[in-house]
Amino acid sequence: MMSMKDKTVLIVGGSSGIGLASAERFLQSGASVHIAGRSTDRLDKASAHLSAFGSVNTLRLDTTDARSVEDAMAGLPESGLDHLVITASQGVHGRFADLAIEDAMGLFDSKFWGPYRVARAALPRMRDGGSITLFSGVLSRRPGVNCSALGAVNGAVEALVRALALELGPRLRVNGVSPGMVRTEAYAGMPEEARDTMYRETGASLPVGRVGAASEIAEAVLFAAGNAYLTGQILDVDGGHMVRQ
Ligand SMILES: NC(=O)c1ccc[n+]([C@@H]2O[C@H](COP(=O)([O-])OP(=O)(O)OC[C@H]3O[C@@H](n4cnc5c(N)ncnc54)[C@H](OP(=O)(O)O)[C@@H]3O)[C@@H](O)[C@H]2O)c1
Repeated sequence: MMSMKDKTVLIVGGSSGIGLASAERFLQSGASVHIAGRSTDRLDKASAHLSAFGSVNTLRLDTTDARSVEDAMAGLPESGLDHLVITASQGVHGRFADLAIEDAMGLFDSKFWGPYRVARAALPRMRDGGSITLFSGVLSRRPGVNCSALGAVNGAVEALVRALALELGPRLRVNGVSPGMVRTEAYAGMPEEARDTMYRETGASLPVGRVGAASEIAEAVLFAAGNAYLTGQILDVDGGHMVRQ
């Protein structure tokens, strides 16, 4: 496993799903890990889960609130951050004709402007040679019905990744991870039966024959943070979604 000894990592969205799995991997690789999210309860539960791998510092932060982001950054170590990973977002689905424009704009607040704001606020604290990893998703390049806003916001994140890689290099590297469907708490609000059907049917449509696990995406996050020759890239970790029929 790649060593992250002496590296400091902030995972915004680290209290759940892919962010939590990434925190686990970074701890296993020897990094000092900070996780951030809105709910103190979720952060406490994540911290208790992660205690099997090491101790984490938790930060309460809402990416859509500039003040809360600035306050959280002030709570980071003076010595700085090596790697910033931002998984935090909420999904919004709906037919183009029906989805309220305010909801579509809220999605951009959460999934584009949130990470944009966090990355900007963290910049002065990032150590030379560090990295930023943002999250998009398969809908950027393989659209889905009722997912136009989600596809568009993923595309915006990917464009931001490429532009920041150019602008922030060589001091920092910037990459994106684009997951396919992964079993996480993001789908916790769905009725169990509908969720299982969605996992089964989506999985059956993929070359790998199943949906993904958060730990499989976390492997890519560690790779993006650790590979010093990788920047401006979107890593598709999607079970073959891009090539499915
Ligand atoms: N799971 C999938 O199938 C899938 C597919 C494609 C792309 N993705 C992308 O992968 C990323 C991670 O998804 P996931 O499935 O791991 O999600 P998840 O399990 O729902 O976790 C989201 C995390 O972000 C935090 N968060 C949400 N909104 C926030 C905000 N405004 N400020 C601060 N923290 C916030 C949540 O904690 P609080 O609620 O406590 O704030 C939680 O820790 C997302 O960008 C998602 O769009 C996921």
